[in-house]
Formats: sequence, structure tokens, C-alpha cells
Amino acid sequence: MIIFAGSASQELAKKIADEFRASGEKAELGKSLIKRFPDGECYVRILSKIKKGEHAIVIQSISKPQDENLIELLFLMRGIREAGAKATCVIPYFGYGRQDRAFEEGEVVSSKAVAEMIESSADKVLTINLHKKHILSFFKIPAKELNAASLIGEHFKELFKTGKNTLVVSPDEGSLSLAKEAAKKLNCEANYFKKRRIAPGEVKTEQKNINVKNKNVLIIDDIIDSGSTIAEAVKILKQGKPRSVSVACIHGVLTGNAISKIYAAGADLLVSTDTIPSQISRISVAKLIAKGLS
Ligand code: R5P
Repeated sequence: MIIFAGSASQELAKKIADEFRASGEKAELGKSLIKRFPDGECYVRILSKIKKGEHAIVIQSISKPQDENLIELLFLMRGIREAGAKATCVIPYFGYGRQDRAFEEGEVVSSKAVAEMIESSADKVLTINLHKKHILSFFKIPAKELNAASLIGEHFKELFKTGKNTLVVSPDEGSLSLAKEAAKKLNCEANYFKKRRIAPGEVKTEQKNINVKNKNVLIIDDIIDSGSTIAEAVKILKQGKPRSVSVACIHGVLTGNAISKIYAAGADLLVSTDTIPSQISRISVAKLIAKGLS
């Protein structure tokens, strides 16, 4: 197997190759040249030799800058396909996932458009925690979604030492399944808030009496973007005098001052997985992806 990485997922690709090697499987990191022409257009050349029918993988998150990373991904996929590989596309963070349907008349369902672009040069797709599950059905080729919520649960199990006096909370109903998955690992209960989005970066969370007194509370969401959703949830939970409030997400999109906004709201700890590398990505999805690819 040969693994190529786009600019957004270089370190993760290396970690995945290391995972394969650690379990005795052959995995080579593919060499490619990715550069920009003076006018900004993308140039991709596959440098490693690919044998006909060889399993080649491209790993690339569609994170900021989304359009550039998407084009890189498409070009890399095309390169390995034209070299005769059996091509798997691994998208740790599937950007454009929040436009999963037309909310207003005439809107383009971006996630469907992206899925259709990708499937034109892939045999298989693997991704992690899509914003909405039905995005999988936009692919006409085999597509699988992995769930990283239990990795977050395991991470906090080590930090908290015990699931006693612990509670996992999701800031909206959409992420309750993640909270339940993490809570399973922590052997504790899960609860959720109801949230209304007023505008991008502006949310209203319904006040709800959740008993958090002297508890270690973990708030979990799929995406942290502007940080407003989490900041609201932290502020409400802090009123109940918890022992600590930690925050975790799968995909740390982290626009603007999201990190400082969440700490300013009173969070004690903020972590994410490494589907999008950042200063808070402390939990690696490398093992999960390697397993998903085996
Ligand atoms: C929304 O449904 C998602 O699950 C996240 O809650 C949302 O994307 C977070 O956005 P922000 O950090 O901008 O509030």
C-alpha cells in the first residue's frame, strides 16, 4: 500500500503509515510534488512509482483553505488513478458538510457536489464524523464513516481517572450521539442542550437545569467553528458549579478567536482530534483510520 498526503494532512498520513508498519503491514509514504503556478493554479505530479492495481491512498482534509485543499485532493486522486492504482480517498474532515441540503430555494447542496467530484476518481471513500450521516448516500461508490467520539471518551477516561461524578454534555441535539458514545467509554451519563442558530457565529442555547455540581463535565461537539455554540454551553454549565468543564470536538475548524472565546467563557481544557491539525489537536485518529483501511 502506498499513502499520499495533501498539504492539509501531511502529519496524519505519516502517523497512519507508522500505524501500519507497527502492525507489520507494508506501507510506503508516496512522493508527490504539489505547487502553485504564479497565478495561483495548482500543479500536482505523482513522483513515486505505482504498480498497476496497487492500493494507493490519498489523505486530505477539506479544511481551510477549503477550495485549494479540495483541488489538491482531486488532482492527487486523478494522478494515482491514471497510474493504475486502486484508489481510496481518505477525508478526515469533510468540509462543505454543513451545506448538506438546500435550506433556501436555489441553494447548491455543496456536500453533494463535492461527493460527486470525488467519486469521479476514487474507488472507495473513508471519512470521519460527517456533519450529517446522509452525506454518505451522495456517493455512488462505497463510502464509510468512522466515529472518533470514543477516542475522545478514552482520552478523558485517562484524565479524569474515573467516570464517577462525570457528565458528558452535547451543546445541541445533533451531537447527542457523540456525547453518548464518549459517555460509554467514561461509564457515565450523557445530556444535551437545545440550540437555535440566529446567524453564522451567533447561537441561542435554551437554559436547562442539568445537575453538574462538583462534577467533571465534558462538552463534546462534532465541529467547533466560531466557538459560539461551545462558549454558550460552557457559560450555562458554569452556573451549576461543576468541578471542571472540559471541551472536546472531532473537527477543530477554529475560525477567528474561537479558542480564546471558549477559554474566556470558563472552560478548563479544550482539545480536538487531529483531523484538522491545530494547537489543540491532541487526540490522533491515525489508528482509527488505519483500522478502517485494513
Ligand atoms: C452545528 O450543528 C455543529 O454541530 C456545531 O455545533 C457548529 O458547527 C459549531 O459552530 P460554532 O463553533 O460556530 O458555533
